[in-house]
Amino acid sequence: MNKILVTRAAARRLRLFFPWVYRTDIQQATGDAGDLVSVHAPDGAFLGIGYINPASEISVRILSFSDVEINRDFFRERLLAAFRKREPLRGKTDACRLVHAEADELPGLIVDEYAGHLAVQVNTLGMERLREVLLPEMAELRQPKGIYEKSDAKSRSREGLGTEHRVLHGEIPGRIEIAESGARFLVNLRESQKTGFFLDQRRNREVTASYVEEGFEVLDVFANTGAFGIHAALRGASRVRLVDVSREALELARENLAANGLAAQTVKADAFDYLTEAPGARDRFDLVILDPPPFAKAKRSAAGALKGLRHLIIQSLRILRPGGLLAVFSCSHHVSQEDLQRTVLDAAAERGCRIEILEHLFQDRDHPYVLNIPMSLYLKGFLLRSL
Ligand SMILES: C[S@@+](CC[C@H](N)C(=O)[O-])C[C@H]1O[C@@H](n2cnc3c(N)ncnc32)[C@H](O)[C@@H]1O
Repeated sequence: MNKILVTRAAARRLRLFFPWVYRTDIQQATGDAGDLVSVHAPDGAFLGIGYINPASEISVRILSFSDVEINRDFFRERLLAAFRKREPLRGKTDACRLVHAEADELPGLIVDEYAGHLAVQVNTLGMERLREVLLPEMAELRQPKGIYEKSDAKSRSREGLGTEHRVLHGEIPGRIEIAESGARFLVNLRESQKTGFFLDQRRNREVTASYVEEGFEVLDVFANTGAFGIHAALRGASRVRLVDVSREALELARENLAANGLAAQTVKADAFDYLTEAPGARDRFDLVILDPPPFAKAKRSAAGALKGLRHLIIQSLRILRPGGLLAVFSCSHHVSQEDLQRTVLDAAAERGCRIEILEHLFQDRDHPYVLNIPMSLYLKGFLLRSL
């Protein structure tokens, strides 16, 4: 196998099970893009096996920290371990993330399951090479009704790959109905954002809904297909308004409302404009949800992202009833929980109100957070009460 020698600093990180070798970590390398490589410390000690792409800043991604053969049995074990982690979600939902890339020791691969259909994203050249071994194993283990490939992550272009949207196996209907904690949602794998649904917010939707009281008025901003608002309505909210900039997302939100026998107002608008201008002078809410897209895609944009969030929080506090609730999220790993907390306090100071933290919120368990991989914690949030 091709051999890579890395710097001492990189060796230290790998010994702590950090799964990436950056281009600048490499002292000596053989192997072409996509090849399997064994990674060694400057003294020759074995550190791990991964795949290489010298064109990417993350040049090696580790598949195993043990000296094992990367074959179908290897992937079978990895997949079974990933499925076991999701077992506790059985009964709550039939949709979950089955493979979360590095956090499940399958770098570059995302697999989501929607009521027996799989959505697959291959994000790296190395995984592109390995898919022929891995995907048949996946299909054998899950026996899916259909597999849809949705490899459209921006990272693919850095890996020298194009976009792939195609049915790989079986049938993929235009709408797949999933169940989540008593609610029903329709998922359109072909047209939706992400692989189809924001599965990572499942637990946060449940926690937030558990605070909803009969007659609550709820504003779900960045609503996508309405999942937070729909859970709130099912808990007794009397008025729900969904705001999103995407027409397609709101169309599906309306279908989701109908599927749950609910009615709500849907508003196609930019959230910043909407919150600043739109709610009428006397429009007040008992719960506002702010679940924006990752404003900070790079470290350098974190400050701008927090400024944007601060503005959204100030506007939300303005339209909350006294004692009202605010669920606020950031899904960028460049924004920490402390950053978000500071931003909330800053916004509260601007509004002259006190804030009680009711819940610390994170991505659900099918998107594992591995402490050795700091960036595997990306979704943070708070459920707050404005006093
Ligand atoms: C993280 S998702 C929200 C997921 C949703 N809360 C759920 O549980 O399914 C972010 C949403 O923000 C929307 N969006 C992005 N930029 C926006 C903007 N400037 N104004 C309003 N919506 C926006 C996207 O269309 C997307 O639906």
